[in-house]
Amino acid sequence: MRKKIVAGNWKMNLNRSESLELVSAISKEMKDIDLKNNRVIVAPVSVNLASVVDSEKDNRIECASQNMHFADSGAYTGEVSANILKGINVNLTLLGHSERRAYFNEDDALLKQKVDAAIENNIEIIFCFGEELDDRKAENHFKVVESQLKNALFHLKENDWKNIVLAYEPVWAIGTGMTATPEQAQEMHAFIRNLVKENYNNTIAENVSILYGGSVKPTNAKEIFGKPDVDGGLIGGAALKADMFVEIIKAM
Ligand code: PGA
Repeated sequence: MRKKIVAGNWKMNLNRSESLELVSAISKEMKDIDLKNNRVIVAPVSVNLASVVDSEKDNRIECASQNMHFADSGAYTGEVSANILKGINVNLTLLGHSERRAYFNEDDALLKQKVDAAIENNIEIIFCFGEELDDRKAENHFKVVESQLKNALFHLKENDWKNIVLAYEPVWAIGTGMTATPEQAQEMHAFIRNLVKENYNNTIAENVSILYGGSVKPTNAKEIFGKPDVDGGLIGGAALKADMFVEIIKAM
């Protein structure tokens, strides 16, 4: 059975002590929450990842990288590789976040290389994708999402999908306060699950967790997460405050 997941993407926020404070506050506030079928993940800034991992001794909060390079090592100033992440016990990374796509020119071809490197190194991927506002206005959103998945993921082998989590994040909803309605999220998530089924099989489609991201807050999380094909959320702004983040965890 697929798991429900709430993941916090801290983006370029919080220094080391602020990161440690936040993770410790989240950990304290969620100590009574049963995580048997649920996962809680945070993605701190890369220089603080090791400290946050080391501080999370009971492993109830998993740590993810926000990004990863496709090469194992080499002359790629400022980047981190799978091997470097594994060296600090991080086995999970976001890839394809819309901010990486928009500000760092990450296209489908590059993301495919990163996906392959992560899979080869047994690093689990939270793969982010989603349409821009113009795509939705032109009613191209299904086509855009399909091509993002096809170009970066649908070459994977069936067995690789155990290391894939999908995160649908309509770009127009990220950091804007404009959330997709629960119905819009469900419609797209059902479409995505069906695409996985068509390209692979029903078992893989039913087992892959599909998260929604884009202005999820304590006030709207329950309704969005209540939809049958929405398996949790990737949270930006509201992940930076322990009480808000834990409210969202409770909604899952
Ligand atoms: P937001 O960000 O929750 O601030 O909209 C979501 C994301 O970028 O993953």
